Amino acid sequence: MRTKTEGTHRDDDAATSTPASTAVLDVENLTVRYKVADGDFTAVDNVSFRVAPGERVAIVGESGSGKTNTCLAIAGVLTHPNAVIEADAITFQGTSIAQRKRKRLPQRIPGLAMVFQDASTSLDPVWTVGSQLVDILRATQQISYKNAKAKAAEWLLKVGMVDHQRVMKSRPYELSGGMRQRVMVALALAGSPRLLIADEPTSALDATLSRDIMQLLVALTTEMSTGLILVTHDIHLAQAFTERMLVMYGGRIVEEGASSTLDTTAVHPYTQALMRSVPTLESADLDVLPTIPISATGQHDPAGGCSFLPRCDKAHDACAVPPQRTELGGGYGAACWLAAAESELALTAPAKGA
Ligand SMILES: Nc1ncnc2c1ncn2[C@@H]1O[C@H](COP(=O)(O)OP(=O)(O)OP(=O)(O)O)[C@@H](O)[C@H]1O
Ligand code: SF4
Ligand SMILES: [Mg+2]
Repeated sequence: MRTKTEGTHRDDDAATSTPASTAVLDVENLTVRYKVADGDFTAVDNVSFRVAPGERVAIVGESGSGKTNTCLAIAGVLTHPNAVIEADAITFQGTSIAQRKRKRLPQRIPGLAMVFQDASTSLDPVWTVGSQLVDILRATQQISYKNAKAKAAEWLLKVGMVDHQRVMKSRPYELSGGMRQRVMVALALAGSPRLLIADEPTSALDATLSRDIMQLLVALTTEMSTGLILVTHDIHLAQAFTERMLVMYGGRIVEEGASSTLDTTAVHPYTQALMRSVPTLESADLDVLPTIPISATGQHDPAGGCSFLPRCDKAHDACAVPPQRTELGGGYGAACWLAAAESELALTAPAKGA
């Protein structure tokens, strides 16, 4: 990764109330561009945020908004030859990881683990679950083979595998989808990471299994004080299992708020529309769920201005200039020219059910 020498530095408390000195992860102005036939395509555009130790942060937003690229770039596993990654700073546990040289094969960052949507493509099909767990344990701890084997069995029990001895000897393809996802959780956490990035970890599972796996992830990360970045399309999951939500649109973080209240306090028209489109008990009576209009120009407005402009029902003259982030207190904020006024409205609106 090469670092930018120019560019805007955000205010120290702009992205979150977590001070940089105590954050487990501090990302400043991360940009990912792809060299494509007709120029550059910006997949991630000046993204800045922090994660406090043990904090659970959700990244939500529609398909193509840049969630995965943000995570892959941070973890150092975005090795696509056409990708150009720039950042003013990416600091993990107080150490800069922005200066890493791009290598053909991804480099592991000690203390940072990832879980992906599809366990079947992430687990090694050749080796048994037990040997993969033993490898991780021995790579991250000074531990004998015998002790690592015992610990591997303990980890399988921790993630709910009652018949852990059979699972130890199984290859990933011999397990069900839910079991493979549990094995992924064990592999990710066995090295005692300080931060776990989980990109759609449950979207391949049904609703009940999905909640079970999330409960497991949250219980284990809480026990270990491990921070969690959860990438998801499922707003209910983000509300239930995280403390802070980052809403991405067109490669940018357009709003940052408290997960439990963002459905009523959202000030960015995209977040408001996203929250309205989530099915609720109240909306069950509606014939048609609210949707977000499709833009004729795509996610990045080629003429500049606010990237949501072509789809925004509140657009006005000022929106021809890209909005800066407006601070809304408590480390929260939104990038919309109407943010301050909308924030007043949200604060004075009656609470749901009142
Ligand atoms: N190799 C590539 N070349 C060009 N553009 C790419 C490449 N990989 C990703 N992109 C683009 O980058 C943008 C962001 O992709 P990303 O996968 O980060 O989105 P996402 O928010 O994770 O979407 P989803 O919710 O579908 O997983 C998309 O528009 C995508 O098409
Ligand atoms: S800046 Fe303008 S176009 Fe963009 S979200 Fe706000 S009101 Fe809509
Ligand atoms: Mg993705």
